[in-house]
Amino acid sequence: MTERRKLRSASWFGGAGKNAFMHRSWMKNQGLPDHLFDGRPVIGICNTWSELTPCNAHLRGIAEHVKRGVYEAGGMPVEFPVMSLGESNLRPTAMLFRNLASMDVEESIRGNPIDGVILLVGCDKTTPALLMGAASCNLPTIAVSGGPMLNGNFRGQTIGSGTHVWKFYEDVKAGRMPLNDFLAAEQGQSRSAGSCMTMGTASTMASMVEALGIGMPDNAAIPAVDARRGVLAHLAGRRIVELVNDNIIMSDILTRAAFENAIRVNGAIGGSTNAVLHLIAVARRIGVDLGLDDWDRLGRDVPTIVDLMPSGRFLMEDFYYAGGLSAVMRTLAEAGLLHRDAQTIFGKTIGEIVKDAPNYNPEVIRPFDKPLTEQGGMAILRGNLAPNGAVIKPSAATPALMQHKGRAVVFESIEHYHARIDDPALDIDANSVMVLKNCGPRGYPGMAEVGNMPLPAKLLKQGVSDMVRISDARMSGTAYGTVVLHTAPEAASGGTLALVRDGDLIELDVAGRRLELFVDEAELAERRKAWTPPEQPQGGGYQSLYVERVLQADQGCDFDFLVGRRDAGVPRHSH
Ligand code: FES
Ligand code: MG
Repeated sequence: MTERRKLRSASWFGGAGKNAFMHRSWMKNQGLPDHLFDGRPVIGICNTWSELTPCNAHLRGIAEHVKRGVYEAGGMPVEFPVMSLGESNLRPTAMLFRNLASMDVEESIRGNPIDGVILLVGCDKTTPALLMGAASCNLPTIAVSGGPMLNGNFRGQTIGSGTHVWKFYEDVKAGRMPLNDFLAAEQGQSRSAGSCMTMGTASTMASMVEALGIGMPDNAAIPAVDARRGVLAHLAGRRIVELVNDNIIMSDILTRAAFENAIRVNGAIGGSTNAVLHLIAVARRIGVDLGLDDWDRLGRDVPTIVDLMPSGRFLMEDFYYAGGLSAVMRTLAEAGLLHRDAQTIFGKTIGEIVKDAPNYNPEVIRPFDKPLTEQGGMAILRGNLAPNGAVIKPSAATPALMQHKGRAVVFESIEHYHARIDDPALDIDANSVMVLKNCGPRGYPGMAEVGNMPLPAKLLKQGVSDMVRISDARMSGTAYGTVVLHTAPEAASGGTLALVRDGDLIELDVAGRRLELFVDEAELAERRKAWTPPEQPQGGGYQSLYVERVLQADQGCDFDFLVGRRDAGVPRHSH
């Protein structure tokens, strides 16, 4: 037998001194026998389980499957909790806490006797938060997603998480749906464990995990309650022990090629705009300088071929039965749009994994030349309204509005929007451009998902279904519309967005990648002189740290002091 490499956990558990006694003795109160401390790989199972994060509420069960695999491969599993971020409950927005959770993850890994990590993720922000924290440590790591819920079902109709909330609510506002029916749909939408089963942010990020090669094949699509999700977790447990033995670390997998593949896959799946922020943040943790121009350049020629809500018709359960992400990546590879040689945690290149992937349903996963949308990638807009960039998802927008000039109707804050939107006297029509300020990373704070402002009821009743909307906010991955997001710099940091007034002329030109405010320089300079930054709602606490140190959307909204790797050297003793 070859001699085992000395692992970092041996700095805790190895030897016969006082410290080793302490490290082992206290662990043994859990009933762990001596032989588990013989220098074998210690695998941290970093769990975002929480009953307040309903999408991750089943993750302790998934952890049990991981443990079986770890034991089977000769490792020692240790499950530990980190801050869990539930999209549906957490206020003011889960995004405010993504960086906080990433700090929890990073310090929990580095400070403990851990040689390799399984990240148990699901709900939107849990995936980037854990990838970011783990990337800064750069140990052998596999992300295991909890899987999507089964298709929503309501009175014989298939309904999708989030997407049908937006749709039904518009129907109620337009008088097309009785309120009681609306409320009755709640249970039907969420009828099993798992995350949103539309191609919202959770499914997008689970797809990014798979596309990056940092997760197992089929990570994105297997439903949470399908027994094959347990099999995947079990096999991930076995595999992480091998990664530790072979010393394959995160930076071996998360290369520029991996991120470029992920961006292309995002276009092909019609993925969430939130992925733009998260991928940039993860990349910069591991040391890959990813930016908005990469998104535009790489996404340009990628058609959306996955017909899932919110852009299309189907849901994640259908996607799995159709062949899942491997089938999508095979299509991209055959079109010359995938770096086939990118390495994965699976021990094969991504090209090898997907080369023979079957497509069982070409309605759900369409052929490359019969896409849902020709331009699937994100379009990055620039102009005086967004000198550092803004994001629009053309596949969720109305084609006729992608080239549009209209007068601004301005909302100074989300409260101002709520107070004003259904005022019968509001001067607004279908050609107006709705502008929302102070919802960016610092302005909200946390950059809430309010960019897809619902249209005024009076226009909905006239049959208007979409309007151009511009803000420094984010949008839920389950939402749709001609919505320009993430304008940088944001209004609260003095971006031009802050200077827009009712009646100003704005032009959106997606093909030309432009976003322009037609107000001359001299007038803008006058307005800038009169501008004062909005007051922060809360003094002190984490929120103050956030406002002080958060980077703008084009840099992924990480904290300035968290960018980069600090690796996982063994810290000094505590006793
Ligand atoms: Fe958790 Fe959508 S709310 S995944
Ligand atoms: Mg969301």
